[in-house]
Amino acid sequence: MNEKQWVGEKAAEFVKDGMVVGLGTGSTVYYTLKRLGELVNEGLSIQGIPTSVQTEIIAKEFGIPLTNFLEVEHIDLAIDGADEVDLHLNLTKGGGGALLREKIIAKAAKTFIVVADSSKLVEKLGTFLLPVEVVPFGFSVTERHIRELGCSPEIRLKEGKPFITDNGNYIFDCNFPDIPYPETLERKLNMIPGVVENGLFVGMADMLVTLGEDKNIVVKRT
Ligand code: A5P
Repeated sequence: MNEKQWVGEKAAEFVKDGMVVGLGTGSTVYYTLKRLGELVNEGLSIQGIPTSVQTEIIAKEFGIPLTNFLEVEHIDLAIDGADEVDLHLNLTKGGGGALLREKIIAKAAKTFIVVADSSKLVEKLGTFLLPVEVVPFGFSVTERHIRELGCSPEIRLKEGKPFITDNGNYIFDCNFPDIPYPETLERKLNMIPGVVENGLFVGMADMLVTLGEDKNIVVKRT
């Protein structure tokens, strides 16, 4: 079993009967989805709201019943991965391009659990390129404004063309070398016209499921 599987499966233990569950995106939460599928098979009654089309497909394959924000008003628990987690459980997310729906769902959740193998733990955010989702209209102007905040944005490509998010937008991956004040940067980025959302999740995570140095599961709470 690899670290992602350990933490992913552990997080599924926090899901209880009757819950509306935000279903994250990525290779770690994949194991949470797989485990939830097994539990549903054994009689657990939940409804999931996926953070991406990819997760929607996987959740359906695993037999997890799905719902949406027209049917339910809140989410009891959201579980999602991260690209970086700092000591205060602030996160960088969006490596898979799902940051916008991930943030909407994390915000709507009463409890937000992050699952991350030990390679994701950092003292300060900034090693991972920060994803910023922008609307295609005027994206070169938007890029200039992002650059003025102190980075060199690179448009994310897929097969030589701009990567398109589930929301029809582009992503700039931005090399902010070290992010001393994530909350300030999060706000400044989102104030730029054309920026839809960025991958900084500040003060959102309630719990982290990871592995300690001794390779035992650690659950940290904020
Ligand atoms: C998806 O857009 C991301 O936010 C993922 O949650 C994040 O990249 C973690 O993915 P892995 O679990 O695959 O590392």
